[in-house]
Amino acid sequence: MRVLLYFPGDGLERWASALAALLPEAEVRAWSADAPAFQADYIAGFRPPPELFDREKHVRAVFNLAAGVETILAVPTLDPSVPIYRLEDAGMAEQMADYASYAVLRWYRDFDAYSELAARGEWKRLKPRRKRDFTVGVLGLGEMGGAVARRIASLGFPVRGWSRTPRASAGVEGFHGTASLAPFLIGSRVVIATLPLTAETRGILDRDAFAQMPQGSYVVNVGRGGLIVERDLLDALDSGRIAGAMLDVFETEPLPPDHWLWRHPRVTVTPHASAVTLRDASLAQVADKIRRCHRGEAVSGRVDRVRGY
Ligand code: GLV
Repeated sequence: MRVLLYFPGDGLERWASALAALLPEAEVRAWSADAPAFQADYIAGFRPPPELFDREKHVRAVFNLAAGVETILAVPTLDPSVPIYRLEDAGMAEQMADYASYAVLRWYRDFDAYSELAARGEWKRLKPRRKRDFTVGVLGLGEMGGAVARRIASLGFPVRGWSRTPRASAGVEGFHGTASLAPFLIGSRVVIATLPLTAETRGILDRDAFAQMPQGSYVVNVGRGGLIVERDLLDALDSGRIAGAMLDVFETEPLPPDHWLWRHPRVTVTPHASAVTLRDASLAQVADKIRRCHRGEAVSGRVDRVRGY
């Protein structure tokens, strides 16, 4: 079997060697725009260039080296009958749970306010908040959202989760479907977005959503930038409806250096780093999926193209 690996940026050859070591029965190659067609059976990678699928006409399956699949689904040259599989957790869920825990504890324990006081040399104790008044709402209860919700619950916060279809998770109050989005938001002091970007979720955190959240609440986005209407967030920050945001993903990435989000005093920007694709864990998972697929066995993580994730 032939496996072609592609992602933009550095290290492609190194990743290809690592994948070859995990799949000794395969011929593994790193994509090169100058090389002739490889006749690949399987493509593994992220953000493949459209010409890859013009050239490779016998692809049996695509293994997305990321959890989010909106970019692979947007490739116009990919035959719609070719199955796509995405990464499932592969070490990302724990990273995301760490990021979300930091955000929640930072706001719950008033660390920003203490930093401001410290900058003035002011010794002043702030009134403690109560966890029962600090409900955390997690948008999306998949691999990532589920792990985030469980971790925040383990810290003693009341946690609620919203998903498209019902999802049970111990210690997490479940909300599902469009009609329950408003009741979910109304009770969430912190909203953590972990959703995939689909036609249904684009702009889910907009003016109306912020207006439903309690005055002085907080937003974390570790899903995709398009989940938030950035202009509406600016208005919500300026009105005080939203007291702070930690954003890891943006409508435009890299976030342009002159973007207002970099400079807003109540916004923390991180460069799509809340959960990075870990080479060893991801390639081990992809190698296993390729091998199963090649043997005709069931493979988990198949993307439903209509649903969009
Ligand atoms: C990262 O953003 C991913 O989708 O895995």
